[in-house]
Amino acid sequence: MIKQTAVAISMLAALGGQVAAQEEMSYGEAEFVNSCAACHGERGMGDGPLASILTTPPADLTRLSEGNKGAFPYYRVFAVIDGRYLIPGHGGREMPVWGQQFIEEDAKTYGPNGGELITTERIHELTSYIETLQR
Ligand code: HEC
Repeated sequence: MIKQTAVAISMLAALGGQVAAQEEMSYGEAEFVNSCAACHGERGMGDGPLASILTTPPADLTRLSEGNKGAFPYYRVFAVIDGRYLIPGHGGREMPVWGQQFIEEDAKTYGPNGGELITTERIHELTSYIETLQR
């Protein structure tokens, strides 16, 4: 397990290194710009170009700590992004289920177990990046 995690982290570091070399961005930031900014906005304030066509406004991701007595709700954010383990509430979810989307891509490259590690790591990187956006 420790060995697999180390492999996952070194693969991500390699990925992040490529991105960072090009644009000086962390892996989490690059993934955010690619996958999340269209709805949540470049700075996570909920003002992306697709926001106006959604029924539910995309959350302002810079105020998650503020809404939780000043503490960043890390595991709730992680679970919402992943989305696979949430019990569906009433009405639909407008945000893609990222855990499902990522594992479909990652399992193709790394197999089911390696893929799950990479998917989990990607969601951790995103969650940590969102933590840095708090005001
Ligand atoms: C298609 C538009 C869309 C995209 C793309 C999108 N989101 Fe969302 N997101 C939403 C909407 C709309 C909500 C509000 C809840 C709902 O309806 O699903 C939301 C809610 C959230 C929340 C919950 C905030 C809270 O108040 O608890 C988090 C965290 C989040 N998104 C993170 C992300 C991340 C990370 C990505 C990229 C990997 C992303 N979103 C991409 C539309 C989007």
